Amino acid sequence: MTREEARNKIIFALDSGEFAHVQYWAETLVGRVGMFKVGKQLFTACGPAAVRMIQKFGGEVFLDLKFHDIPNTVAMASVEAARLGVRLFNLHALGGYEMMARTREALDKEFSGGERAKVLAVTILTSSTEETLRGVGINIPVPDMVVKLAALAKKAGIDGVVASPLEVPLIREACGSDFLIVTPGVRPGFAALNDQKRVMTPVEAVTAGSDYLVIGRPIGDAEDPAVAAEMILDEIIAG
Ligand code: C5P
Repeated sequence: MTREEARNKIIFALDSGEFAHVQYWAETLVGRVGMFKVGKQLFTACGPAAVRMIQKFGGEVFLDLKFHDIPNTVAMASVEAARLGVRLFNLHALGGYEMMARTREALDKEFSGGERAKVLAVTILTSSTEETLRGVGINIPVPDMVVKLAALAKKAGIDGVVASPLEVPLIREACGSDFLIVTPGVRPGFAALNDQKRVMTPVEAVTAGSDYLVIGRPIGDAEDPAVAAEMILDEIIAG
C-alpha cells in the first residue's frame, strides 16, 4: 500500500465543540488525513458552518449524525446532508428496512446519475453489550445482530456500515467486498487506549478489511497532531 492510499483511509474525528479549535485541527491536518468526521457535538455547536470551514481548507467530511427517525424524516435529512457536499454520512440500521430504502431512493432521485454522498449504517454501537440488547428486548448475540443489520442495510441499498474492527471479517463474509466498512476503536502502538476497550491497531484493522479507520484522540491529543498522523501512516506501511 502506498502512503497516499494509507492516508486516504484515515478519518480524523473532530471531537470538539469549539470552532477555533476545530479550525486549527483542520488547517493542520488537511492533506495529512483523508477525511474529517463531524459528529453530534461539533454539529450541534457550530452547524453546517463547521462543514463549510473544513471544505474551504480542501478537506472532505464524514457527517456522523446517526439519523434514526420515521422514514420520511430520515430520507429528507439525508438529502440535506448530501447537499452539504459531504463524502459520507450515516443512519442507524435499527431504524429498519423502509427507513433505509426510502433514504436511498431519495438520494437517487436528488442526485440522479451524478456523484452523491455515500450513506453508512450503524449496526450495534460498540458501547452496547449483550446485556444492553436484552434490556431493550433483543435476545440475540451481538455478532449475530451486527451481521443481520449489515445484511439488511445492504439489501436496502445502503453503501456500507460503521462497525468495530473485530466485526469486519463477519460483515465482509455476509456483505461482500464492495460494501464499505468504517471502523472506530483503532489505536496505534504509540497511543493510549483512553476509554476504548476492544481495540485493534491500524495495521490489524486494515488487514481485517476496513476501508476507513476513524481515529480521534491519538491524533488530536498529540503534542503535534501532524506528526502523530504521519506516525500512523508509518505504522500502516511498515505493517
Ligand atoms: O478518540 P477516539 O479515536 O476514541 O475517537 C473515536 C471516534 O469514533 C469518536 O468520535 C467516537 O465517538 C467514534 N465512535 C467510536 N465507537 C463507535 C462509534 C463511533 O469510538 N462505535
